[in-house]
Amino acid sequence: MIEFFLNGRRQYVEAEPTTSVLALLRETLGHCGTKEGCASGDCGACTVAIADPDSSAAWRTANACITPAHQLQGCHLVTVEGLARGEALHPAQAAMVECHASQCGFCTPGIVMSLFALHESRRQTPAAPLAPQALEAALGGNLCRCTGYRPIRDAAHAMATQPDSRPAWADDPELETAWRALGRASRATHYHTPQHLAELMQLRREHPQAPLVAGATDLWLGVTQRLEQWPAVIDLSQVTELRRIEAEDKGWWIGAAVTYREWEPLLQTHYPAFAHLLERLGSAQIRHRATVGGNIANASPIGDTPPVLLALEARLRLAGPDGERELPLSAFFLDYRKTALRPGECIVAIWLPRPEDDAQLRVWKLSKRREDDISTLLGAFHWRQTGEQMHDVRVAFGGMAATPLRVHKVEAALEGQPATAETFADAKRALRAALTPLDDVRGSADYRLTAAANLLERWALILDPSRDDTQEVALDAYAH
Ligand SMILES: Cc1cc2nc3c(=O)[nH]c(=O)nc-3n(C[C@H](O)[C@H](O)[C@H](O)COP(=O)(O)OP(=O)(O)OC[C@H]3O[C@@H](n4cnc5c(N)ncnc54)[C@H](O)[C@@H]3O)c2cc1C
Ligand code: FES
Ligand code: FES
Repeated sequence: MIEFFLNGRRQYVEAEPTTSVLALLRETLGHCGTKEGCASGDCGACTVAIADPDSSAAWRTANACITPAHQLQGCHLVTVEGLARGEALHPAQAAMVECHASQCGFCTPGIVMSLFALHESRRQTPAAPLAPQALEAALGGNLCRCTGYRPIRDAAHAMATQPDSRPAWADDPELETAWRALGRASRATHYHTPQHLAELMQLRREHPQAPLVAGATDLWLGVTQRLEQWPAVIDLSQVTELRRIEAEDKGWWIGAAVTYREWEPLLQTHYPAFAHLLERLGSAQIRHRATVGGNIANASPIGDTPPVLLALEARLRLAGPDGERELPLSAFFLDYRKTALRPGECIVAIWLPRPEDDAQLRVWKLSKRREDDISTLLGAFHWRQTGEQMHDVRVAFGGMAATPLRVHKVEAALEGQPATAETFADAKRALRAALTPLDDVRGSADYRLTAAANLLERWALILDPSRDDTQEVALDAYAH
């Protein structure tokens, strides 16, 4: 049984552990306004908005196709059917009509939902100009195959000038209290939502085959693409020990089930280059739900956060049948999609050290599309500079081998050396000798080697004292 609110109305529904929000809406509840395009979180046609007790009533967009239906427990779900008040359209809908921004109509409900969440986030400051970055972040996860982006962008701007019509449920002062009172713990028999680590460990003993799910943005592709069915699922998204960020003098323990969106403010303050990368990790729909623990456990050679965390010498706290242990992240990735996790173990938290005052970090992701695309390769570069010499040099890449990895030979070529063209020429030679990259549909091995060497060149350019910061910003614009 799942209890939640849909467009202001209370729902009680039964669902299999592998039912998605999209299947629940279309097949059980008869709400067919939300469309299925790709069924893999890429196109955004299935975008819905969810408010949960952790989100302070802010609307978070999500891809319904890869969101487990059971994660709706105790939430308020809003779909495209819930926006108009009688004949009065919500500003997101009215602006789409006014700007002729719907052509095929199939992707339109998802675009309207992303615009709805954007509009609602700006209701307190409707007159403030809509920054291009905010617009791109809001719509980056919605593809329009007929390339009608211009009118869609116009609609985003035009929302501010539409009559401020509110859905009927928005005027119900008791609604939020009602959905918050439902509680998030699952009442289902086969979809488990442990609240504490001890409960999680117990459930793992009882259901050793049940997959762990956090944001589901990787795992659920098994359901939608490979048609897998699991008799039971263990959900990590409410385990207290995995959901918190603990600050210590020398750094932070980031809970493995903390989402990118929740983690971003800390990174913006302490590691802006890392925060900037998150803006390019998937889409808003993905970042609202996906977790860093899932990114690490998934062990993809092209996952975005592992190279950065390797360059920052992150550590992992793991918990399993034999208790807790710590492991440097560098010892976690053993081979292609093979990790050091023992049977029954999970990642509890990731240790992120505080940056030294003079530490520098740059992260450059190369992908075919700027928004909503997986890396072809990603380079993360950490260093400190004393006078002319570079110290604490750490170089990590994704997409350059079967696992994300530090490239110690490149580090050795730079450590203690002045940041000159000659030093970086040595580093590039070391890179070519050290790595045999992947050769796949995203990029040939040759492309990857050349591009990785070019990232070292770019690093050299930003350290060149004859260049100024504006040139680094200009270079950054081409980092995709
Ligand atoms: C459209 C789309 C775009 C994407 N873009 C990017 C991108 O740009 N860059 C990128 O790096 N990734 C991208 N991804 C992949 C995915 O979003 C990330 O890997 C994400 O961080 C996974 O987190 P999650 O919480 O959704 O993991 P889940 O899907 O819930 O889990 C992933 C795997 O990790 C395991 N797991 C999860 N948490 C733990 C834990 N605490 N301990 C042990 N095992 C655990 C699960 O059992 C599962 O095997 C994209 C995915 C989609 C669908
Ligand atoms: S159907 Fe394409 S993102 Fe869900
Ligand atoms: S309006 Fe649907 S693909 Fe462009």
